[in-house]
Amino acid sequence: MRVLSGIQPSGKLHLGNYFGAMRQYVELQEKDNEGLYFIANYHALTSVNDAKTLREYTREIALGYLAVGIDPEKSIFFRHSDVPEVCELAWILTCITPMSLLQKCVSYKDKISQGLAPNSGLFSYPVLQAADILIYQSNLVPVGQDQKQHLEVTRDIALKFNNLYGETFEMPEPYILSAAAVVPGIDGEKMSKSYDNTLELFEPANKTKKKIMRIVTDSTPVEDPKDLDKCTIFALLKLVTTEQEQEQWRDRYTAGGMGYGEAKKGLLEKVNLLLDPFRHRYEELAKDMDSVEDILTEGGKKARRIAQETMERVRIATGIMVSK
Ligand code: TRP
Repeated sequence: MRVLSGIQPSGKLHLGNYFGAMRQYVELQEKDNEGLYFIANYHALTSVNDAKTLREYTREIALGYLAVGIDPEKSIFFRHSDVPEVCELAWILTCITPMSLLQKCVSYKDKISQGLAPNSGLFSYPVLQAADILIYQSNLVPVGQDQKQHLEVTRDIALKFNNLYGETFEMPEPYILSAAAVVPGIDGEKMSKSYDNTLELFEPANKTKKKIMRIVTDSTPVEDPKDLDKCTIFALLKLVTTEQEQEQWRDRYTAGGMGYGEAKKGLLEKVNLLLDPFRHRYEELAKDMDSVEDILTEGGKKARRIAQETMERVRIATGIMVSK
């Protein structure tokens, strides 16, 4: 199986990114898959128009993904823009994509309502995404639920191309990442940069501590039993503890006599246990950006070879190029 996913560089990585996607990519590469993971910097141009910011965001993804375990020996990890052929394919696909297909996409509307400028790149984003997926003949695309529609668009475009020009693209399947991992932020809302409620993966430990201590709780007195289902601390604890440990916390919550401060301390300990090795690797990698650059460049070369093979066929099939 060829597994592919793109990661939009959009700022500091946090626990929501980790449990929602990163951890699962690392797991997928342990199975017998050929993984391709790329930093979607062309996509980021739809919303980031500042070179310094884009470079910073790209660096964060490169360091962050390597730090949590994306292994360049097992997966091809690269930068979108090191395979410029995707832009060529995106144009070719644009020319067979009905406007109505893109007009149906909710992510465009969502982004506009969040205040992003309605440029035409943002509107045609799903076509570039289709090109990303199809150019590598990907079989499986792990994405969050919010990307399901883009996968449907990709399949529609692939089908249309194959019907028009002959069998060229593999039909990719979405692999919807486990929704069990809805990670709350420190205010109890979904963890998200736009809510400013994140626990970042690579911020200094004392910052993480301060934020955990600020987690919003209700005013149940210490001696009373606590409602597990409404407690943000417990929701986070569930992500970083074993079943057995969860049972113990469950008992403590329901028995009464436990203050939220205590649960926060327990949470902090577990979060640090998870993050310490990541923080350490991140710092080590950051000291050696040349090696990180080499990893991305090498990955880009490997990815590009696959892309060029597909493009050769696409150019011939469409009549852009005379067949040899
Ligand atoms: N649109 C995806 C997101 O915002 C990122 C992405 C770009 C992607 N190209 C892709 C995901 C190709 C999967 C496959 O999360």
